[in-house]
Amino acid sequence: MTGNILINKMTFQYPSMLHPLFENITVNIDENWKLGLLGRNGRGKTTFFKILLGELDYEGTVQSSLIFKYFPVYLANQLTAEEVLLQKNPMIERWELELELSYMDLPAEVLDRDFYVLSGGEQTKILLIELFLNEAAFPLIDEPTNNLDAHGRRGVGDYLNRKKGFIVVSHDQHFLNQFVDHTMAINKESIDVIKGDIDTWAYEKKNADELAEEKNHRLYQEINRLEAVSKRVASWGQKRENSTKDAAERRLAAKQMKRSKAIKKRTEEKIRDKKSLINNVEQVESLKMRVDQPDKQVLLLRNFSILQNGKCLFEPVNIDVYPSERLFITGKNGAGKTTLLHFILGNGQFEVTGDYQIRLPNKISLLHQQNQLGKDHASILQQLTAQEKESYLHLLRQLGSKRSSFADHTSNHWSSGEQKKVFLANALLGNHSLFVWDEVTNYLDMMVIDQLIGAINKYKPTMIGVDHNEHFANSVATKKLELIKKV
Ligand SMILES: Nc1ncnc2c1ncn2[C@@H]1O[C@H](COP(=O)(O)OP(=O)(O)OP(=O)(O)O)[C@@H](O)[C@H]1O
Ligand SMILES: [Mg+2]
Repeated sequence: MTGNILINKMTFQYPSMLHPLFENITVNIDENWKLGLLGRNGRGKTTFFKILLGELDYEGTVQSSLIFKYFPVYLANQLTAEEVLLQKNPMIERWELELELSYMDLPAEVLDRDFYVLSGGEQTKILLIELFLNEAAFPLIDEPTNNLDAHGRRGVGDYLNRKKGFIVVSHDQHFLNQFVDHTMAINKESIDVIKGDIDTWAYEKKNADELAEEKNHRLYQEINRLEAVSKRVASWGQKRENSTKDAAERRLAAKQMKRSKAIKKRTEEKIRDKKSLINNVEQVESLKMRVDQPDKQVLLLRNFSILQNGKCLFEPVNIDVYPSERLFITGKNGAGKTTLLHFILGNGQFEVTGDYQIRLPNKISLLHQQNQLGKDHASILQQLTAQEKESYLHLLRQLGSKRSSFADHTSNHWSSGEQKKVFLANALLGNHSLFVWDEVTNYLDMMVIDQLIGAINKYKPTMIGVDHNEHFANSVATKKLELIKKV
């Protein structure tokens, strides 16, 4: 057997599901590919990894001699970064580790720090290095970008470009395009595997969708025409049959009727076949935002910085936010973006330098960086009035969550994107005058991100945001503020 992954007629369904998540899938994946795995939230990307890891029962065959390793893993022990890297690879020398770190733009002294004190982005990088240190392993990397800023995403992208033989799930096309040479997409009704990056796939998919729609359109036209003909032939034949006593003519009329029925049947079969193609075209509804504008300037900062131990956290900044402006705060991990958001919102005590004026309106839509612990679909439902509940469920459906998945109120098994949509739908409920959103795009699929971009550009809310998804921030920001860490 080669090191390739051979999947043949694989079908899988969680016991609580009405329909299989995968049905009769046949795919071959080469062990040397840098494969990007795409798919909307809840389509089964993480489940696909679990199947390769042998954690789930399926029908059909999945053959491979590779040893699969999953990212992210959670480490319970208290280890230094070096110990994490040497856990399974004790023979590796320090200089080799330092070299790998340098590829990730990490200083060597990170090795001596406790793993748990490292920033989210640094932990991600160390765990990824660990995956690739073991050359026999085939990494399955599930959404590595959530803790990475734009700079970190470029660093990890470059690192993955040096390696080969792995699969990465990400909703950030910009990131994936840095390194993938093959793309696999879990569509609504099919799975595509193509040679090329996400842009190539998107181009091919768009053409295939357009072609499918055009073909369907032509087919529907054809069926209308044929139906009209067959009706005409039938009524003519019937009339003929009834009006003539000539046996030969009656036979001819009956034959024509039979023929027209056969044509109709064939056409209907054709339509059924093509229906699966039309179903494969992704559809998103446009999303509604309810926006009130604040009546005054919301924020003014002059020569402003936040002090930590008497020192500026970032280089002093100047900015104004007026109604219907959207400010995005950018800067590397650790530059103080979330801290500045907390200051603006009045969460906590801060020492500052410079001048500032903050006039927060009453109705603020808040979205935190991480999915809030202890809050889920069930607890949100409990807090809502009947009318709000209806709007909330409507929003969830607009965001593409399937009705069947939120019938299960516990949301324990929901995919990461499905869980994120719960917080997003909650943040979109009601009228708001200011939107303060920290990393709204984490875990969301590309179509939901585009749906949000469409809504924001249509309703023009006043917004103060932080987001590492460059496509999103560039599409909606009217101004940007870069925080530069003061050294
Ligand atoms: N143990 C489980 N029992 C029942 N349903 C499950 C279970 N685990 C996942 N699901 C459901 O299976 C579907 C696929 O989940 P999965 O986590 O594989 O999606 P995903 O493609 O990784 O999505 P995301 O982009 O949001 O991470 C989802 O609808 C999810 O709610
Ligand atoms: Mg997932």
